[in-house]
Amino acid sequence: MNNIKISKRDLLAMAEEARKNSYSPYSGISVGAALLAKSGRVYLGTNVENVAYSPSLCAERCAFGTAVTSGERGFSAIAVVGGKRGEPREKLFSPCGVCRQVMGEMCDGDFEIILSEDNSFTLSELLPIGFDYGKTKNEDV
Ligand code: THU
Repeated sequence: MNNIKISKRDLLAMAEEARKNSYSPYSGISVGAALLAKSGRVYLGTNVENVAYSPSLCAERCAFGTAVTSGERGFSAIAVVGGKRGEPREKLFSPCGVCRQVMGEMCDGDFEIILSEDNSFTLSELLPIGFDYGKTKNEDV
């Protein structure tokens, strides 16, 4: 992960911590994300639901929002965990299409998406032919 000294295990543990703060009374699914910026800083996110459903925010986009607010541009990796609220995770929690599109805006194809210690994917693998017509290069903005 770009020479930054943080293990997959640590990033997953941070995502689990964020998951504890999930506001998910409607789905009962809690999600946590830990986003590693190229600066070495980590930004957390959790899902925040709404009674009107569509304003609900995914954990990954929450983490990107916090990071960009703090002035970050380049990103190396994100750990994502999720499952029934209050219970240990039991299977891989793969980012939704909307979150993949946001990653496509902010990250290069080699951005690493960590779902467990043994299961990581690049953004190119999870979003192989993403929409990018006229895309601005994120780090120049
Ligand atoms: N969710 C995420 O936080 N990230 C995803 O990539 C997919 C879904 C949340 C949204 C909702 O609060 C709950 O998981 C169930 O869909």
